Amino acid sequence: MSKEFNVAIAGATGAVGIEMIKTLENRNFPVKNLRLLASKRSAGKTMTFKGTEITIEELTEDSFKDIDIALFSAGSDISKKFRKAVVDAGAVMIDNSSAFRMEDDVPLIVPEVNPEDVKLHNGVIANPNCSTIIMLVAVAPLHKAKKLKRLVAATYQATSGAGAKGMAELEMQTRQLLNEEAISPEAFAHRIGFNLIPHIDSFYDNGYTKEELKMLFETRKMLHDDNLQVSCTCVRVPIMRAHSEALNLEFENEVTPEEARKILAGAPGVIVVDDPAKLEYPMPIDATNQDDILVGRIRQDISRNDKCGLDIFVSGDQVLKGAALNAVQIAELL
Ligand code: A2P
Repeated sequence: MSKEFNVAIAGATGAVGIEMIKTLENRNFPVKNLRLLASKRSAGKTMTFKGTEITIEELTEDSFKDIDIALFSAGSDISKKFRKAVVDAGAVMIDNSSAFRMEDDVPLIVPEVNPEDVKLHNGVIANPNCSTIIMLVAVAPLHKAKKLKRLVAATYQATSGAGAKGMAELEMQTRQLLNEEAISPEAFAHRIGFNLIPHIDSFYDNGYTKEELKMLFETRKMLHDDNLQVSCTCVRVPIMRAHSEALNLEFENEVTPEEARKILAGAPGVIVVDDPAKLEYPMPIDATNQDDILVGRIRQDISRNDKCGLDIFVSGDQVLKGAALNAVQIAELL
């Protein structure tokens, strides 16, 4: 009989937690027992996994006895607080937060990009930033073939990145604005309905946001290249749950759009959607509820005098590949 695992989800009631439960079920992950953990507020409620009702328990230090794999998506503070309890219980923590991503003995994994790093773990594996995952699924195959030197990104990030409350706020504000009612932003610094906000996470003294620098440092870590030049502008847009990104890529070697399409067509986790004549290009509504990252608008960068630059556009489901699916794929690697 093949091995089965006891799995815990910390943050099971959140936007990503709910998707983790569905993903374990959809991918038929070999779950022996599933333990659903959240705050005291949710304890005693039930959620369904494979047709069975499971009672949500309060997350405590004692939650990890007999657990093999603990998927965490309840924020950095909770991950930091319970890391020791998970590791002491002999479980492997797959953490969706940014708490440990840059630690040397914590592998940062996108299974399509650097699966070999998973074996370096000491009990904790980090799930990268959602925008970084979506970007690298598309960029890594091109990097492997043509050696990336520099990347400039502008993101169009969905409200799901701020959790269930972010999505709820977009829905509520849209209704309120159409009804000419007063709004009061809570999940975001400003109104998100019919607006966009060029500010995700906190600002550093150099003018970049933490989200933008996560994309820089996490990309360097996963592509194993500390000299890679990366500059990003991260923008929150009034979209429910799929992120999009405009990427300008500079390679050491020449690459034509035709070649890039061929490389990407054979890459895992990618669907090339690139037929402008038929009005086909990546869009967040098409990426929603899709496991794969959509890549299109592939063209030669005309600002250059050589063929070493490409512009591309990508869309990917933030809750799935940006978080829950990638975490479950890491568990599959284990
Ligand atoms: P709860 O629903 O009980 O508050 P999201 O990112 O979508 O906002 O979800 C956050 C997740 O983290 C939810 O499952 C939430 O549970 C959980 N969570 C928040 N605070 C705590 C806490 N103090 N202990 C355990 N889980 C928490």
